Amino acid sequence: DLCFLLLLIHPYLLTKLSFLPPAWCYHKPSCNDTTWPTIAAKYCSGTRQSPINIVSASAELNANLTEFTFQNYGDTSILKKILNTGKTVKVSLGSGVSISGGDLSEAYDSLQFHLHWGNGSSIPGSEHTVDGKRYPMELHIVNSKSTFNGNTTLAVKDSTGLAALGFFIEVRGQPASWNTLTSYLANIRNRGDSVSIAPGISLDDLLVGVDRSQYYRYLGSLTTPNCNEAVVWTVFKDSIKVSKDLVRPGHPERHPAWVLGLINARIPGGQRSLACISSRIATVIQVTLERSKEP
Ligand SMILES: *[C@@H]1O[C@H](CO)[C@@H](O)[C@H](O)[C@H]1NC(C)=O
Ligand SMILES: *[C@@H]1O[C@H](CO)[C@@H](O)[C@H](O)[C@H]1NC(C)=O
Ligand SMILES: *[C@@H]1O[C@H](CO)[C@@H](O)[C@H](O)[C@H]1NC(C)=O
Ligand SMILES: *[C@@H]1O[C@H](CO)[C@@H](O)[C@H](O)[C@H]1NC(C)=O
Ligand SMILES: [Zn+2]
Repeated sequence: DLCFLLLLIHPYLLTKLSFLPPAWCYHKPSCNDTTWPTIAAKYCSGTRQSPINIVSASAELNANLTEFTFQNYGDTSILKKILNTGKTVKVSLGSGVSISGGDLSEAYDSLQFHLHWGNGSSIPGSEHTVDGKRYPMELHIVNSKSTFNGNTTLAVKDSTGLAALGFFIEVRGQPASWNTLTSYLANIRNRGDSVSIAPGISLDDLLVGVDRSQYYRYLGSLTTPNCNEAVVWTVFKDSIKVSKDLVRPGHPERHPAWVLGLINARIPGGQRSLACISSRIATVIQVTLERSKEP
């Protein structure tokens, strides 16, 4: 029956079929973040959505926000694979890397990290902002409650199933580890491409120089559809500083997406805007106490 076949393959109907992942994007009017509440209606228009603007003056001090323990963040063979998802660069991590402390209810396995950035200097790139300041890039390390053994389908059904660590990235400083990581971009030019990462760089290397005892905390969501409200957010005050010495020839711009070669790699990148989140003002943000340095 030809009509039946045509119905099955009609693109409009395909988007309506629930077994397909929702088609979302950052840059096209037809599927950008203003449309996400219709793409994933259940959560994207919810009441604890991320990202938010962090108003530092209204953050409440919370002595329970102790330092984290970062298990195997110094392991130089834990970065396994780098993938061009078509929307970001995602690095998957080996097993045995986890975080605990920081007022988390239990240990959380670190599963992957990815980046958010804009298209060059004209579009900013971090998802969270602090006192209205948007940083040029943001790194997200995604962690899942150890109880769920890496099963994120289960984790997103728990209101604290995931713990995300957000680090801003700026151009200043030196870490060569980032140069090593982004040297892989030449091998993942197309959406869906991935390559193995050779041993040599650790998570600590990528986070070098960041004071990880100072951070903001709030309960939020995934920042991409389905926007599940399952994320304990930690946003660090201190930023990662990548060297301007890494600036590619012909691209003098001081945006880390240029510096790291992400623009050259022609991966679009993107960030969810704050504008479509109606509930952010009501969010309770907590902050670590300033700790005096050890003598
Ligand atoms: C998203 O799409 C809407 C129209 O659907 C448009 O008005 C808006 O400017 C777009 N935003 C971005 C950031 O592209
Ligand atoms: C700190 O933790 C204790 C014990 O779990 C709890 O009763 C208290 O409300 C927490 N304080 C804050 C500011 O969340
Ligand atoms: C995650 O858990 C669900 C429910 O127990 C199960 O159906 C699914 O197969 C699991 N996924 C993986 C990748 O193990
Ligand atoms: C951002 O990147 C996307 C995908 O490459 C492109 O379609 C869009 O035009 C870019 N926006 C700007 C303002 O450069
Ligand atoms: Zn993210």
